[in-house]
Amino acid sequence: MRKVSIDGDGYVDEAHIVDLVQVGLMSTKNVIARGETGTGKTYLFHWLCGRASEQPSPNQAPPDYAVELWEPYELNVPQLSKFSCHEEQGYVDIVAQDILADGETKAKKQILLQWLEPTVDDKTPKLLLVDEANFLSPSVAGFFHSLCDWQAGIWVPELNEFVRRSPLHWLALCINPFEKAIYQGTKQMNSALAGRFLTIDIGYMSKSSEIKFLKARFPNADKQLIDRLCEFAGNTRVAYRQDLLNVPATPRNLVQWFDIMEKGKFSLTDIEPVVLGVWSPDQQKAVKGLLEGQEIGKVFKSVGVDQ
Ligand SMILES: Nc1ncnc2c1ncn2[C@@H]1O[C@H](COP(=O)(O)OP(=O)(O)OP(=O)(O)O)[C@@H](O)[C@H]1O
Ligand SMILES: [Mg+2]
Repeated sequence: MRKVSIDGDGYVDEAHIVDLVQVGLMSTKNVIARGETGTGKTYLFHWLCGRASEQPSPNQAPPDYAVELWEPYELNVPQLSKFSCHEEQGYVDIVAQDILADGETKAKKQILLQWLEPTVDDKTPKLLLVDEANFLSPSVAGFFHSLCDWQAGIWVPELNEFVRRSPLHWLALCINPFEKAIYQGTKQMNSALAGRFLTIDIGYMSKSSEIKFLKARFPNADKQLIDRLCEFAGNTRVAYRQDLLNVPATPRNLVQWFDIMEKGKFSLTDIEPVVLGVWSPDQQKAVKGLLEGQEIGKVFKSVGVDQ
């Protein structure tokens, strides 16, 4: 078992997800990370590929556990390519597009073909991260189908070539099945494609880890305020799962709030419009109650919703 590293910068890995994802990618080549918004799905892959650039720490040496992570498998950090899905995406956005260059028509390789180009050597994998894959359009899902079945490649008419995928071309999809925006392609992906992937469920870090994570990230912040806001975030997640709120407070929100409090020397009262701004106006009264530390049952009764 690997130690949980909570230094405010690394990936907090209580459930040994990194091992599962890493071994999953090595064995099946296709992994789905599935979890609620802000559980760190995207960040996990950025971090795995040495690209956790959302939280740059230029003067810091790589943390020990990152070295420890890769050594047992003698792997280099995968090269990362990434795109976010939307429902209108199709062949020309993802695979290839005809362009006019010097009076001639040429095929411009899009992200999928760029990823399918050979790896730099015979041991460094290339990871294609398909983010927000709940919004994968049926036509793009079709390309992945052919990449993940026995064909292991796609036919590209512009190149007059069947472009093959090697065992070092790894594919990862991030999915939030709890996303409440309506999406018609989910069912299709579930039945036809999801079976070819290893699906790994990712949850929020525990309250105690979230507290430690924030304390490490914001060492000058008021410790009681960290406890209080983590408790609040946990309650919004419970209310979200019960359909009482339209979104939960995520670790991303918590980081943003402490960041602006620190940078602007603001109190929680000063930033209340930012905190409440996460929710729609009709939900803010209830959220304010939770922020003040009231119980979920009481809060939603007081705004006219029985649990
Ligand atoms: N386990 C974790 N370890 C370290 N940081 C985390 C963890 N979980 C969340 N975070 C923090 O939350 C931020 C947002 O996470 P991320 O964007 O990866 O979530 P997500 O699951 O991809 O959400 P969405 O479904 O909305 O895209 C990260 O940049 C990181 O700061
Ligand atoms: Mg994400």
